[in-house]
Parts: sequence; C-alpha cells; structure tokens
Amino acid sequence: MPVFADVDTGVDDAMALAYLFASPDAHVVGIASTAGNVPVAQVSINNLGLLELFGIDDVPVSEGAPVPLSIPLRTAEDTHGPEGLGYARLPETDRSLTPYDAAHAWVAAAREYPGELLGLVTGPLTNLALALRLEPALPRLLRRLVIMGGAFDYRGNTTPVAEWNTHVDPEAAAEVFAVWGAAWGLSTPTHLPIVLGLNLTENVAMTPSILGRLAAAAGSPSAQLSVLDDRGTPSAAANPLIRVLEDAMRFYFEFHFDQGEGYLAHLHDPLAAAVALDPDLVRYQSATVDVELTGTLTRGMTVADWRGHWGREHNAHIGVEVDPAAFFERFIERVGPFARGVGHR
Ligand code: BDR
Ligand code: CA
Repeated sequence: MPVFADVDTGVDDAMALAYLFASPDAHVVGIASTAGNVPVAQVSINNLGLLELFGIDDVPVSEGAPVPLSIPLRTAEDTHGPEGLGYARLPETDRSLTPYDAAHAWVAAAREYPGELLGLVTGPLTNLALALRLEPALPRLLRRLVIMGGAFDYRGNTTPVAEWNTHVDPEAAAEVFAVWGAAWGLSTPTHLPIVLGLNLTENVAMTPSILGRLAAAAGSPSAQLSVLDDRGTPSAAANPLIRVLEDAMRFYFEFHFDQGEGYLAHLHDPLAAAVALDPDLVRYQSATVDVELTGTLTRGMTVADWRGHWGREHNAHIGVEVDPAAFFERFIERVGPFARGVGHR
C-alpha cells in the first residue's frame, strides 16, 4: 500500500516512521516535513537522518512551510528534546531534500496513486491545508487519510482544551475539516478522514518493560530503563536503531514523568501509522468536527458535534476505542525484526 507520511519528527513521529518502514504491507512513497515539535529545517534533518539510520534509499523527503498558516510557530523542545529526538543522535547524512515543497509532494503522490494512497499526518495540518488549496480533488484521490490530532470530549495537552498538533496551526486544521465536510458528506462515509485524538492515543503508553520487549525482539537486549537512572543515561544497546529509540524514549519518559503521568510515554503517532495500514485496530464514531478559532480560553479546541446540533454533514471518523496490547504486539513484531536488519542493509 503506498503511504505518504507528513510528520513533525518528534520522538513519536520517529517511532511512527520506524513502524511504517518495518511494515511489509507499506510502501512509503514520500515524507513531508512539517514545522511543529521543532522547526521545519530540524524536522527535515531528522527525517533524512532516520532514513540514513534505517538504510532506506529512494524515499523523497520534502520540506514544508516554516510557519503555520497565520500565526507564528510554537515548538516543543521541552517534550521532544533540543533537536526533536530526545537524547538520541542520528547519523550524519549527505541526503538532500526534494526541490519541490511538501504541499506539492502531497499532490504529486496523490496523483501518482489515485484511489490508492494512504495519507498519514502526525504533525500540524499546515502542509495538508496548503496541498488542498493546490488540488481541491485531493480528498477524492486518497484512499484513506489518518490524522493524529485533537482531543474529543477530553482535556488538551497544550492548553486545558487543545491538543498540540491542532494548537500549533488551528487555522490549518479548521480548513482541512471544512474541505472534507464539503468534499464527501454522508454519501461516502468510508472516505471520511480518520482522526485520532488524545482521548484515544493516551491509552497507548510505552513503558520501560514494553521497550525491553522491543529490544529483545531486535536481538539486542539491554538494561531496562528506570525512573531511578540518572537523567540522560545513554543506551548501551548494541543495535543502532534500538539505541536511538531508547535514547529518544528516555527523554520522552522523563517529560511524561515530569507532567505527573508516570515513567511512560504516549505513542500517539505510531498508533496513527498502524491505523493507516489497518483501520480495524480502532473503533470509531463519526461526527462533524470543527476547530475553535476565536475562543479566548478555547482556541485550538476540536469540537465534535455528535448529535447533529449544527445540521452539518459528518466530516470525520473519530477514534473512540483501542486495544493497546494488540497495538504493541504488532509494533514489536514488526519493528523488532526490522531493527535486526538495521546496520546490515
Ligand atoms: C502530538 O503532539 C506531538 O508533540 C506528538 O508528536 C504528537 O503528534 C500529540 O499531541
Ligand atoms: Ca507528531
């Protein structure tokens, strides 16, 4: 299945990319770098560095807009580390970006695989909104779109009500949901975008013990990460991918710990990647989604009209239930063997 991944890499975005490249049923045809967790130039460095680490050639990486549609960029180095990958260091690479930007890359990929392409967005919706301006037929060209973003009847992680990806570029998110509402409507409910918000993704918590299972599946067991370790203790794993994932996850664990969530980390974006390939991992409820753009306290909030108060067509399938154990089993069974091959490809 051809997949186009739009990411703001980011610790969990990196895990999502690892999952896609580890999946035999996925053919990643392009990566878009979107400004979000870190500035877009750093996102591109991270995406190119990950491809170098994975030993994957011939996947174009396209850089997107440096700023959201109409507000300055806000980044999240506190969550993802100064360069976006926690304590991890990626290999140097002489790989380069495409001469065209991320919005054009979206459109080109959709036109190349009409009716087949799986679109995945795990960052702000800036570049998808720009792509929809370039090609209004984009919703009909895609086979499926999966968006990690929002929080439905659930608290935010950036403001009391706003989730990070939507908070960074609320205008872009509003534009994307408006386009889908107009493009599809109730007559083609299967083509509505799948939207996974914090209400769903916060059920998927990576822990030191699950990370240990991944390292073992990669044939690279190492000391289990612990809340008692010195902060920033480097991974001793022999496998280069496991080393990067452990060093990235340690930072993410520490961030979640400091937030009072425990020594764990929510894998928002890997769940979205897994759902792009297999939507049956999640149960959905469709609704009309819009984004609050003017509220003085609630800007960036995703509002789902479950009961038709607005009288507007549904424009999203919202994830409402997931089996985290099934997700982690699949994650380990794919990324473990993939990691074994890293350094040998
Ligand atoms: C989202 O925000 C980012 O920090 C993560 O990468 C994820 O995409 C969760 O709110
Ligand atoms: Ca992300």
